Amino acid sequence: MKEAIDQLLAQVAALKAANEKEVEEARVRLLGKKGEITKLFEEFRSYSPDLKREFGKKLNELKQAASAKIEELKQCTSAAAEASAPKQDLSMPGTPVQLGSRHPVSIVRQEIVDIFRKFGYDVAEGPEIEDDYHVFEALNFPPNHPARDMQDTFFVSTGHINPLLLRTHTSSVQVRAMETMKLPIRVICPGRVFRNEAISARAHCIFHQVEGLYIDENVTFADLKQAILLFAREMFGADTAIRMRPSYFPFTEPSSEVDVSCNICHGKGCNICKGTGWLEILGCGMVDPNVLEASGIDSKKYSGFAFGMGLERIAMLKWQVNDLRHYFENDLRFLSQFKTATEV
Ligand code: DAH
Repeated sequence: MKEAIDQLLAQVAALKAANEKEVEEARVRLLGKKGEITKLFEEFRSYSPDLKREFGKKLNELKQAASAKIEELKQCTSAAAEASAPKQDLSMPGTPVQLGSRHPVSIVRQEIVDIFRKFGYDVAEGPEIEDDYHVFEALNFPPNHPARDMQDTFFVSTGHINPLLLRTHTSSVQVRAMETMKLPIRVICPGRVFRNEAISARAHCIFHQVEGLYIDENVTFADLKQAILLFAREMFGADTAIRMRPSYFPFTEPSSEVDVSCNICHGKGCNICKGTGWLEILGCGMVDPNVLEASGIDSKKYSGFAFGMGLERIAMLKWQVNDLRHYFENDLRFLSQFKTATEV
């Protein structure tokens, strides 16, 4: 037994392996079910207690030495296998991440916000689910007034004095601005609005508006005209002209609709401007004194102007999109075409 153990110890110490397969073979030869060390343990079992005492320790040392050596060889050979494996090129470019693009309505909204920020306007937002007071009543639409027919409404709750509804215009945010902001007020309010309209190329039940409001002492219609002209030139180009047509909104007096000169045909007449040379872009007017007073502003001391425009309409003019439904269908072929001024 002693010689056998010494011989195997020497063998273990000298053990070498070129690869993982050879390590496994050595393990089976020494420690496998029929391995040489396993066989010695079998022989050992039949020994007398005296002999067991003499060889037990040595035999265990042999087994431990063999296991440790096998483990060491395993690690060396697997590290070598890894090192000789084809190397990864860490400088290779990764799988490209496809960047999304901004929605045309978001691009237009940002452009408008940037222009009015330059003019010193703040940005305000208000709730999409509003009450009747902020959408209609405070804006001089009395209950049952026929002007309410201009904006067919989705009611959320009815049957009480101040029902909740999906706001039909962002003019509701002007009311909130007048209630909460300190005078003078210079604010624009971009947001989503809702109307009970059948969906078609020219109408949708969801769309977006930007509302503007300026209230101070001695604000006149000339200030309104100048603000809109500067905006139109920034938005549509320095040679853009504007034209104001008298109109009616319950919350402004006088009221006007504004057209810009057609930037496609430059006034000659084309199918975008339907031969007129002009494109309608917004509604505006001097804030009705009733509206100022409803929000606690002294209409003898203060005056102001307001305007409101549809973002889809502006985007349609900018990119000649001829169907409103494209904006809401999330078709990537449509959406991926739009670039901001800095991306072009
Ligand atoms: N709220 C109007 C609409 O949705 C747009 C509008 C017109 C807003 C005139 C104004 C304004 O502030 O003065 O049709």
